[in-house]
Amino acid sequence: MFEISVLVSGSGSTLDNLAFHCYDELEGVMRGMATITSVFADRNCGALEVADGWGIPKFVLDTKSILKKAGNVDLCVLAGFLSKIYVPPEMEGKILNIHPSLLPKYGGKGMYGRKVHQAVKESGDSITGCTVHVVDNEYDHGEIVDQELIPIMPEQSADDLEMAVKKLEQQLYPKAILNFLSKQPK
Ligand code: GAR
Repeated sequence: MFEISVLVSGSGSTLDNLAFHCYDELEGVMRGMATITSVFADRNCGALEVADGWGIPKFVLDTKSILKKAGNVDLCVLAGFLSKIYVPPEMEGKILNIHPSLLPKYGGKGMYGRKVHQAVKESGDSITGCTVHVVDNEYDHGEIVDQELIPIMPEQSADDLEMAVKKLEQQLYPKAILNFLSKQPK
């Protein structure tokens, strides 16, 4: 069984979906293969209640302490974690993130959540999507592991895009995590 720690700062919908896919008996794509050992937050946030709901131990810590405590697993997963991370050498290649755009477009400092979709909408692009990538020491920058895309309809607002991409993220992240883990030596 692969052990995962999840790092959060927000409402916890990504965490909720990952836990569902670890533990749901019928539809969990990671069920029996991965377990979330702990949730770490850098602030008080809704995701802590989500952790409680699934009975997963949770901790609120400063970012530096989080990486010391969260690293003793097979994979550390960012789920709307907003603090800058400096990856310690022993954790290189062991941290994944999901970003709500087709990186390298619309990533970088300050680009998260609604701001990303606003920028995509204003760009006039005809496609958007989400990206799972390995975390390195630059925002939204490490090796791309997987991407999923959807067309943008002219009538869609930034809010509509956020909803559509969130749905896509929820399908992509568990599958990308499992795929990534299955390629790691255990
Ligand atoms: C997700 O949409 C995720 O893609 C985004 O934050 C949201 C977290 O929502 N992450 C980034 O923008 C990272 N740069 P949640 O708190 O409900 O899981």
